[in-house]
Amino acid sequence: MTTATHAKGLEGVIAGETEICNVEQTSLVYRGYEIADLAANASFEEVAFLLLVGHKPSSDELGAFKAELIAERALPSAVVEFLKTSGNLVNNEYAVPMDILRTAVSILSHLDADCQDNAGDANLRKSKRLLAQIPTVIGHMQNSIEGKDFIAPNANLSHSANLLYMMTGSEPTPEAEKVMDVSLVLYAEHDYNASTFTARVISGTLGDLHGAVTGAIAALKGKLHGGANEAAMEMLADIRNDIGSDNDLGKVTDWMHQAFADKRKLMGFGHRVYKNGDHRAPILHGLGRKAAQARGEDFIKLFELGEMVQKIMEDEKKIYPNVDFPCGMTYFTMGIPVPQYTPIFVASRITGWAAHIMEQHANNRLIRPRVAYIGPAPRNWND
Ligand code: CMC
Repeated sequence: MTTATHAKGLEGVIAGETEICNVEQTSLVYRGYEIADLAANASFEEVAFLLLVGHKPSSDELGAFKAELIAERALPSAVVEFLKTSGNLVNNEYAVPMDILRTAVSILSHLDADCQDNAGDANLRKSKRLLAQIPTVIGHMQNSIEGKDFIAPNANLSHSANLLYMMTGSEPTPEAEKVMDVSLVLYAEHDYNASTFTARVISGTLGDLHGAVTGAIAALKGKLHGGANEAAMEMLADIRNDIGSDNDLGKVTDWMHQAFADKRKLMGFGHRVYKNGDHRAPILHGLGRKAAQARGEDFIKLFELGEMVQKIMEDEKKIYPNVDFPCGMTYFTMGIPVPQYTPIFVASRITGWAAHIMEQHANNRLIRPRVAYIGPAPRNWND
């Protein structure tokens, strides 16, 4: 019998080594670059290259990388046909956009000539293809949900601008493109979070990259992980629904006290590693707040409500917002439908997942921990 003690939820356990990312109380670093530096100075395409290839791109490398991504944006016809059904699956059946995206990635694997090849060069080709294709999946799916014709990718637009364009049919303003781009930079990588760990476990069996990404999407969907950006916005909408839109501090406080009494987890707050705040949250909050100012009173009031909730959590519980809290308010301000917030997280985190899958395949050992057995003592079937 295994009797060793264990950490519930593997808290504090060092489960591997990586060169890709370091998450600490005081810093978040992608391959040596601090997140605030990247958010201020690097585009999402530059960060994607850094994560996938391993170094900051030269301008020639960046130009070639962007051209490759643009060339890979279109989807095979079987995936397009599936996405034509996605509006019905979401509107009339039981699917949500994260499920559609998971299935689309799975179908993409059947049509990728490199699918069964786990060599580094094949994995890099597949990573770039998925990075380019995921915004098209999201765009077509949103078009289908709204009963509209599919919008073709626009080769003149950056990754972030094209993502917004394909969902809405309008080219975003430079300000909206910037906010989306920074959010993708912030979401790109976060060491052994649950979805990345899932991807590493799958690739550790020598499972293929698309399979590992499919599993990672399923893990990211949950509200305790990436699904929190949608859940955070839904929670703010619930508060508004319950107390009205006048942001009365007394009513907000009463709502929060009831949530505490009910032992309710407030979505977009808390973190397994960051106990004094998530470095990404204030960066996105600042950008989202600016976008709200430009959009007008209703959006400013949403941020003011969020700030009240945040202050009460910090003052009374010493629990801080994670990146998903400002993300919810920011994407709402940008007019993005709530059920697409977590798929957009995927459009970014695909870079981190793919980097980890390549790192796992390059230096593999099966990931297979033990578990402490707490079931019945040995007994006989015929007793
Ligand atoms: N609301 C209310 N109380 C909380 C919250 C919260 N959001 N987060 C933690 N706590 C309390 C928790 O109840 C516990 O209290 P007590 O010791 O009295 O039982 C204490 O703080 C420690 O929490 P924990 O549940 O042991 O923390 P954890 O490390 O197991 O969980 C977490 C981390 C992120 C799952 C959790 O904070 C949570 O459920 N947050 C809400 C969901 C969320 O925002 N997830 C996004 C995570 S970060 C970004 C990402 O992955 O996308």
